[in-house]
Amino acid sequence: MTFTVAVAGKGGVGKTTFAAITVRHLHERTGEVVLAVDADPNSNLGAKLGTEPGRTLGSIREELMSLGEEPPPGMSKPEYIDYQVKLALKEGHGFDIVTMGRQEGPGCYCFVNNLLRNVVDSLSAKYAYVVVDNEAGMEHLSRRTTKATDVLFVVADGSKAAVEAARRISTLADEMKIRVGHKALVRNMSDPSSADAGTGTVEGFDSVHAVRRSSRVRADSERSESLMDLPRTDPAFSDISRAVDSVRRVA
Ligand SMILES: Nc1ncnc2c1ncn2[C@@H]1O[C@H](COP(=O)(O)OP(=O)(O)OP(=O)(O)O)[C@@H](O)[C@H]1O
Ligand SMILES: [Mg+2]
Repeated sequence: MTFTVAVAGKGGVGKTTFAAITVRHLHERTGEVVLAVDADPNSNLGAKLGTEPGRTLGSIREELMSLGEEPPPGMSKPEYIDYQVKLALKEGHGFDIVTMGRQEGPGCYCFVNNLLRNVVDSLSAKYAYVVVDNEAGMEHLSRRTTKATDVLFVVADGSKAAVEAARRISTLADEMKIRVGHKALVRNMSDPSSADAGTGTVEGFDSVHAVRRSSRVRADSERSESLMDLPRTDPAFSDISRAVDSVRRVA
């Protein structure tokens, strides 16, 4: 059984940070190799996990389109896509990562897009844990690139507007009939002196988690450094680990 975690929220609230620390925590806690899916066209999950960017599924799709949707002789199309996706899968320390990249372009490439999505689905089945970092906003929900997930973490920063945006994302997920086992609100960058403050309950969410602001997370990001060396004692790391462990128990 695969346990899938999707991370959503408006721009710049800390989605990728949350996703990267979740990948690290799940591996360190369980010993399993985690599949990280970077579903943001402005991909940077790999960078936060300390890997160089590889080929994106978007570029594979472009290549398939330029072949007129025909695979090379002697290969079926699913075999060819499977082979390409294996090339696109990058191995990191405790995780493998696949990067969706940009998928826009003229015309309807639904056939190829659906095939690629199916390949990601079948890839996911091989892992115990999958963590998906989504693009900002709600587009991905409307396009249904997220169809089902055990846990949806919606990240908000301290602002009232961010919590409102998180609630809209939660409502849209219901309207789009996305199957979500557990909806969790993350109040990111909360005051460092108040580890458990500001949680309580929020309508539309099954649980609420506070993640403290961390000067080290901010500094690593400014220096474009990965979060692979972030100590587990860092306040953001320990709060994210706690949130992930608590939803693993209830989802
Ligand atoms: N708990 C935290 N403490 C301190 N800084 C944080 C925390 N979480 C995120 N940040 C910082 O906030 C900025 C935005 O974080 P991040 O890139 O994770 O957001 P995002 O939601 O993925 O953004 P985008 O919408 O552009 O994809 C980064 O500089 C990051 O280091
Ligand atoms: Mg991001």
